[in-house]
Amino acid sequence: MEPAYDESTDEMFRPDMVGPVVDFLAELAAGGPVLELGIGTGRIALPLAARGLDVHGIDLSEDAVARLRAKPGGPALPVTIGDFATTRVEGHFTLAYLVFNTIMNLTTQGEQVACFRTVAAQLEPGGCFVIEVMVPDLRRLPPGETVKPFDFSEDHWGFDEYDVANQALRSHHLTFRDGKIDYSSGPFRYVWPSELDLMAAMAGLRFRQRWDGWMRDPFTSESRQHVSVWEKPTGDGSG
Ligand SMILES: C[S@@+](CC[C@H](N)C(=O)[O-])C[C@H]1O[C@@H](n2cnc3c(N)ncnc32)[C@H](O)[C@@H]1O
Repeated sequence: MEPAYDESTDEMFRPDMVGPVVDFLAELAAGGPVLELGIGTGRIALPLAARGLDVHGIDLSEDAVARLRAKPGGPALPVTIGDFATTRVEGHFTLAYLVFNTIMNLTTQGEQVACFRTVAAQLEPGGCFVIEVMVPDLRRLPPGETVKPFDFSEDHWGFDEYDVANQALRSHHLTFRDGKIDYSSGPFRYVWPSELDLMAAMAGLRFRQRWDGWMRDPFTSESRQHVSVWEKPTGDGSG
């Protein structure tokens, strides 16, 4: 994660952005405990823990976790360093969640499938898995073109470079700060809603709901992102 993550995603840290996410997750958690995959600097986990939920995190980045630990409530929040495709932590959870396109950080289909299986094994019966991720923007990519801008603001330009044959995406970021330009880029695997449903089914999870966002707007043909929920059957016929 880039050092200025908390600043470069400022908008994502605004209370009006974080509040609906935390409300949605807290309601679904039904008291917890809760697991965040790719917990990062605790943007969602810390306010969720402040609601009294027992939150555990997984992340690969020691640096991001050190920044989480430096925030109020951070030292008390247990985080396991590891790859969330395969890492299991102690205990079982009523809710696991993966927000902010982070499923796309797993750059192969096999890793994404493994992630669903790893989560399913750690959910309590009746527990839910929530993913927030973009809908692949291919409808905006004319034949022969590979690059689409996704942000063109005063301090940041972002471009997604598609490799359709391999269902791959590289995001390029130009950030303007203190008169300097920083460039960074990272690899992703974009993934379709229906493909996620199939991965969930392969892991023994059942589709529950899909929304356009955290405010539960309907998911439609024009939706550019979704919040999807799958649940682990209880096995007693009730769920
Ligand atoms: C876009 S950030 C999101 C952080 C946080 N969930 C949030 O919403 O602010 C993605 C995080 O996932 C972590 N990450 C990416 N791939 C990972 C993997 N395979 N296993 C564990 N963590 C991973 C990164 O280190 C980073 O902290």
